[in-house]
Formats: sequence, C-alpha cells, structure tokens
Amino acid sequence: MTSSDKVALDLMGLLRPKAGSGARSDVITLPAPQREGGMPVMEALAARATRREFARRALPDDVLSNLLWAAFGINRPASDGRTAPSALNQQEIDIYAALPNGLYRYDPHGHCLLLVAPHDVRCLTGVQQLVDDAPLDLVYVADHNRMMLVPTAERDTLAAASAGAIAENVYLYAASAGLATVLRTLIDRDTLSRAMNLEPTQRVVLAQTVGYPLLAQTAP
Ligand SMILES: Cc1cc2nc3c(=O)[nH]c(=O)nc-3n(C[C@H](O)[C@H](O)[C@H](O)COP(=O)(O)O)c2cc1C
Repeated sequence: MTSSDKVALDLMGLLRPKAGSGARSDVITLPAPQREGGMPVMEALAARATRREFARRALPDDVLSNLLWAAFGINRPASDGRTAPSALNQQEIDIYAALPNGLYRYDPHGHCLLLVAPHDVRCLTGVQQLVDDAPLDLVYVADHNRMMLVPTAERDTLAAASAGAIAENVYLYAASAGLATVLRTLIDRDTLSRAMNLEPTQRVVLAQTVGYPLLAQTAP
C-alpha cells in the first residue's frame, strides 16, 4: 500500500488497528540504561539526520531501554529530573510505544513499558506508509491535566516544545547508535486518539518512528 492509498483509506474511516502479533506481557521490564559511552555529542550532532527507510528487524530491549531513557528518562533521581526539559518542569509528555505486539506507555519511574492495548496501532500513528512496518513508532502525548500552572491558551505551544526536546534526544541517540528515525506530524490525531483510548485532556502532539536503517542492497 502506498501513502496515497493510506490517506484515502483514512479519509474513508477504514484504517483500523491490527491484532497484536507475537508474545506480549503486561509489563516489559527494561534493562538499566547505559548512562555513559556512546558517540561524543558533537559527533552525534554532526550525524543527526532524518531517515525514512527502516528494516523490519525489532529493536532489542537494551536499545529500547537506552532510547527511552535518552528520550525522557530520569537522569537526576533525587529531584525527579528528566533528560529533556519541560516548561515549569510539568513533565506533561507521556511516551507511548507502538510495537507489533501492542501499545505500551513508558513509565520513567519503573523504567518499563506498561501495556495499554493488545493491538498493533503502528499503522495509525501516521498517514505515511513508512510507519506501518517499522519496528517502533513513538507517540508523544501531552496530558493537559499536568499543565495547570500555565494558561490554557499556551498549553499546546508548550507541549509541542517539550515534545520537540524529547524528539531531539531521540535523534541524537539514534545518530549515536546507528539507528534511523523520523519525527512526524502527518497524523490523523482523532483516529489515533480513539485507537489509543486517550482521555479528552490527552493530546497527541507528534510521533517518531525509530528502527534500524534499511541498508541498500549491494549489487551481486
Ligand atoms: C515538527 C516536525 C514535524 C515533522 N513532520 C514530519 C512528517 O510528518 N513526516 C516526515 O516525513 N517528516 C517530518 N519531519 C521531518 C522533517 O521533514 C525533516 O526534519 C526536515 O526535512 C529536515 O531534514 P533533517 O531532519 O534530516 O535535517 C518533521 C520535522 C519536525 C521538526
């Protein structure tokens, strides 16, 4: 299916989550993240780029662990500090992970993934076809209930800024770890919110696909 076919199906209201495939548990306990090593930050900045072609190969748990911790994990436990900033430290963004076996929410305190729905919602995380088969689509969701310290009119702007900071962390980790990633706004947010069973106060801000790069076939 092309992206245009997908947009047409979406407009007709025919895009649906798929049944989750593979083994599934209510909690995916992640190994401790690697808090040192990796590429020097200036080299990661030099390598940072959007890549839209992904191998189907799953990300192993240690990579998932490092990725989620880099994205918005706890780096200063004494003050509950996170790897990305947020306005007034409201920490309003939740990261959902759409995996082939289900939809999960990242719990930074337990450093684990909690099952939200046993469906494969990857195809609903964006209208581009590339999201369907990549091994991981992250969805950044702002919980406006955690934004009571700012005026209502400013909440979407601040949540977008917070999600952007998280997304850049993912870009830099991807550059360091040799992964491909693309940040995405081309999303049918109403359809995705329904599939994720979000509350009205929870808003899909952006999504980001991550996986191993699809390497060009070498000529025989
Ligand atoms: C807020 C935001 C939304 C984006 N949305 C999309 C998107 O929906 N689909 C897509 O393929 N790329 C998307 N991109 C990626 C941009 O197209 C990409 O960053 C730009 O072309 C520059 O390329 P670079 O990231 O390699 O520097 C988005 C980037 C940002 C910052």
